[in-house]
Amino acid sequence: MRTCKIHFQPDDITIVTEAGQSLLAAAQQAGIIINSVCGGAGTCNKCLIEVDGISEPVQACRFYVERDLMVNVPESSRFFEQKILQEGIALGSCLNPQIAKYFVQLSEPCLDDLRSDTQRLIDAVKEAAGVRRSEDEIAVDTVSDTAGENLRGTIDYDLTIDFTLLPKLPGLLRDNSYTVTALCHGRHIIDLEPGNTTDKKYGLAADIGTTTVVVELVDLTNGKKIAVASQSNPQITFGDDVIGRIDYSRTHKDGLQQLRERITEGINRLIAEICEKSGIDRRYIYELTAVGNSTMQQLLLGIPVESIGQAPYVSTVTSAIDIPAVELGIDISPAGNVYVMPTVAAHVGGDTVAVALSTAMRHSESVNLALDIGTNGELVLGNRDRLLACSTAAGPAFEGARIKQGMRGATGAIERVYIGDDVEVVVIGEGKCVGICGSGLIDAIAELLNVGILDSSGRMLVDDELPASLPPKLRERVVKNKDGLAFILAHSEQSRQDGAIVLTQRDIREAQLAKAAISAGAVVLMRQMRIELADVEHLYLAGAFGNYIRPESARRIGLLPDLPLEKIQFVGNAAASGAREVLICREARQHAQSLAQRIEYVELAGRSEFQTLFSDCMFFPEK
Ligand code: FES
Repeated sequence: MRTCKIHFQPDDITIVTEAGQSLLAAAQQAGIIINSVCGGAGTCNKCLIEVDGISEPVQACRFYVERDLMVNVPESSRFFEQKILQEGIALGSCLNPQIAKYFVQLSEPCLDDLRSDTQRLIDAVKEAAGVRRSEDEIAVDTVSDTAGENLRGTIDYDLTIDFTLLPKLPGLLRDNSYTVTALCHGRHIIDLEPGNTTDKKYGLAADIGTTTVVVELVDLTNGKKIAVASQSNPQITFGDDVIGRIDYSRTHKDGLQQLRERITEGINRLIAEICEKSGIDRRYIYELTAVGNSTMQQLLLGIPVESIGQAPYVSTVTSAIDIPAVELGIDISPAGNVYVMPTVAAHVGGDTVAVALSTAMRHSESVNLALDIGTNGELVLGNRDRLLACSTAAGPAFEGARIKQGMRGATGAIERVYIGDDVEVVVIGEGKCVGICGSGLIDAIAELLNVGILDSSGRMLVDDELPASLPPKLRERVVKNKDGLAFILAHSEQSRQDGAIVLTQRDIREAQLAKAAISAGAVVLMRQMRIELADVEHLYLAGAFGNYIRPESARRIGLLPDLPLEKIQFVGNAAASGAREVLICREARQHAQSLAQRIEYVELAGRSEFQTLFSDCMFFPEK
């Protein structure tokens, strides 16, 4: 095997890699994450890096290493750690986790009491759990040991013990004066610990987004959140969006396996960080609940995702999944469990079920609309009688992709734009600008509409088309460059790029496509429900993006419906809240399952009504 040495600047990292690797993969090996919006297809040009001895920057995904190299990764090509929304909405008071621990003192066997050790344990646990045997209950003290398939042997019809625990049971009881802590997952005893460890019982709630992953550590004895950790989804180098990752899994040998391993490693890194932060030993973490869109959930489970990406778009599974953590390689207690949220359809996943669950829409008499804008836009509309959902392929424009100088909400991103006599921008991290993120994009378009530089069709006006009253400094910012018409948001002296930060006519079109998809989706749902916009009591905005936008700007460009601002409510990371809810409350799992079955999926693709509405919604509302 021939190897080459690559030195990355300005990070000052050197790695040795196999010849023939792409620079994108080599950077990944060095721990440097490069933007790869197209997943390495060579079409997005976001992965440009400079190679010593080559005058023009090269595409990292298409440049294959054949010799030792010195390379420089510019800021504009880096996937910065973005602002990640960790907070969710406050939850109700249900505390009844699926994981329970009972410290039990068993009576010792004697000639008058010859029950087996397992029966003795089960009886004691039942008593501790307050389970009363009914008159006609018959204990069946047998163990089914059909190895492999049925490790959970049936001991009693309503409480079972994991078969693998039996070899250690006799010694554990006799060495500890017949006391033991039994760990139960629902009605299964999944582990036994010496002594009383009932005060050590933790779980993790994971929100696996296409772009970011957030993991919360929760004390299951009181439901309190102890620590949170988050990072960008490490699968990002295989494609920025769901379609990119589906393609990767389809076109690369071991692609599915690589995607699965990448997310598992990412979650394990967060678990390590969270344990270190909190000082909690991971062997006392017994469950992880995971929510994500259907693709993220299936990738976590190692289930092929091709059918999600191809018409007629179906997922492999929609019901909730419980699987031993060791089978997924998740670093918690070896007896631990992973619960994966039920989904509605291929494009309405567990994250949307979690949003519906945590916003309590299912209880409400009035009709509410929940909107989760991420790489796609998912919408849920309804009340306790009926719930409808759809997913719009809004595209990642609001996450900075397909926007010329677009970027995620990370240091250097313009996140706010105000236009008066001139332009004022607010930059994340307060330094010079690197690009513009989704909330900045929405602000900029709203302000350009307000001052008359954009008309309602989204066309950028020039010269004498511009309003006569337009301040000269603004007039000077409308320029024609190699990309066509553009508006200068930040002059070169405010920019860390080689030149000004501009918003092009093409960027405006991309934003129009995205906002039209979302607003047309909302109208289709309202029509299906036979309601008017005025009937919507609350608009819940979920997700990171929802939390950072200015609602008045989003409403101005028609991304949000024209509702009074007091009806618009930010619900933070509602998907993470839903994951926490099912972690601490077993009844919430039943609600999630019934929501997943009750929510009616409305497929937008192929609806002529949607196509017409989509074209109408491309226009910006008149002031
Ligand atoms: S062009 Fe290289 S990742 Fe898109």
